[in-house]
Amino acid sequence: MPLQAQRRPVESPNGMVASAHALASQIGVDCLRQGGNAVDAAVATGLALSVVYPRAGNLGGGGFLLIRLADGRTTLIDFRETAPAAATRTMFQDAQGNVVADRSTVGYLASGVPGTVAGFALAWEKYGSGKLSWSQLVEPARQLAEKGFVVSPYFAQDLRASRDLLGKNAESTRVYLNGGKLFAAGDRFVQPDLAATLRRLQERGSREFYEGETARLIAEDMQAHGGLVRRDDLKSYRAVERAPLHGSYRGFEVIAPPPPSSGGVALLQILGMIEPYDVAAMGTNSAAKIHLFTEAMRRAFRDRAEYLGDPDFVRVPVAGLLEPKYLKTRMADFDPEKATPSASLPAGSPLSGESHETTHYSVVDAAGNAASCTYTLNGLYGSGVTAAGTGVLLNNEMDDFTAKVGVKNLYGLMQGESNAVAPGKRPLSSMTPTIVLKNHAPFLVTGSPGGPTIITTTLFVVTNVIDHSMSVTQAVDAPRFHHQWQPDVVNYEPFFTSQDTMALLRAKGHVLQPRKLYPNDPDAAARYWGDAESILIDPKTQLRQGANDPRNPESTVAGY
Ligand code: DON
Repeated sequence: MPLQAQRRPVESPNGMVASAHALASQIGVDCLRQGGNAVDAAVATGLALSVVYPRAGNLGGGGFLLIRLADGRTTLIDFRETAPAAATRTMFQDAQGNVVADRSTVGYLASGVPGTVAGFALAWEKYGSGKLSWSQLVEPARQLAEKGFVVSPYFAQDLRASRDLLGKNAESTRVYLNGGKLFAAGDRFVQPDLAATLRRLQERGSREFYEGETARLIAEDMQAHGGLVRRDDLKSYRAVERAPLHGSYRGFEVIAPPPPSSGGVALLQILGMIEPYDVAAMGTNSAAKIHLFTEAMRRAFRDRAEYLGDPDFVRVPVAGLLEPKYLKTRMADFDPEKATPSASLPAGSPLSGESHETTHYSVVDAAGNAASCTYTLNGLYGSGVTAAGTGVLLNNEMDDFTAKVGVKNLYGLMQGESNAVAPGKRPLSSMTPTIVLKNHAPFLVTGSPGGPTIITTTLFVVTNVIDHSMSVTQAVDAPRFHHQWQPDVVNYEPFFTSQDTMALLRAKGHVLQPRKLYPNDPDAAARYWGDAESILIDPKTQLRQGANDPRNPESTVAGY
């Protein structure tokens, strides 16, 4: 449960990993100790999460890895899934044009072509230290899969809560539900098929996943069950490098991912819209601040729906959307006393300058290289499908496309034409792995899962530190709120503000709702969201200060 008082961050002088699972964080730190850099550790941590945190850690999904090297170079490894060649813009609709429930979220049709293995391999090849081999980075994950690890009460409960989804697929039932008997806390969870897949990746290299035995197994299982991913789709999959977005907020430099994630654009838009206001003076949970942030969020999410999509397929006016003059105009109708109804809010007109469940982890090494990674299967345990014989759980990322304009997705997001399904296209994401610099040195590494709330969760970590001088733990723990244009409501976590402040907000015209944001979350009591695994580097002492997010009971910071 988020705390208001300060928890002491984990502090260490050299390297640090903050992730959703203790075993994965430790593997990342071991890698740093062996001479690996932050990128090597990010790869090893990500591979380990695919074994110990299967709700989101994955080989069968995709994501974004943002890298900022100590020498100042930055890059974004985009390993987002792609729509298979046979995908069509109406594939999730019936003959009458109605969106078919669950088709984009459950089962074989829901999966895009997985990008994780290609992304990690590209990062390691180009930005790894060169001291650790690919096989060495895979080895700890393989061992965990082969020897198993002890099922915690939390993991047992998590699997139990997802038994409806996983139980729809025979292979997932066998692997994750113990053949239907379910796992209990204290059991050993061994994944021999996944261990064998990891062994093949070690011996034959990362392309094995796309062109070898693993590809064959995935494609055959897909074909046998009405899925669309074929061997050619796997063979032609490539992770790509993109230039990250660089913005600024009150003198800090903010580095974030470009499309096909909407995260960087939306985060920088919101920061740009709130920057002219004295947020520190407003106070953390005041009506004035909540109103200002909500109105900025509303406008950014409105633009997201209109303009954002895969830049290889649609023209995204990124520069125009981030232009300070544009952001000023976007806030021209901001009324400090009144909410702008979403229904009457048009998309902005930027100049066209240029063409359920996720996990985030942050890594910093002793040399000051930083890696910020968010990757996902989309929903908890993705599509629920484990490709037979591989131990690889497949994503349901196709739901991030617009199934039909005007119809909401899993996260209640209203999306637009620019994000329509097309063969080879990447679905629009909200993932926002972020690195903030102070005086040109790495200062804060952060990000989160949470669908659209990723953007606002990341926003709060950044602004809580910069505007309210919170420690990294306070910034992560503080209650969050969220507005995404549609539905026109402010969602909030427990203890977000006082009743009298809420009355002030209602008087301005806001609708406030404490509801959970993941409609597919089997935990009905889940009224918290996000998992912002963050690291701050103290500019004075250079100590790495890590904050795990207490909303995820197994999240852990490890350092040395
Ligand atoms: O890329 C996206 O925006 C979504 N697939 C992320 C899903 C997510 O964060 C689920 N986590 N709770």
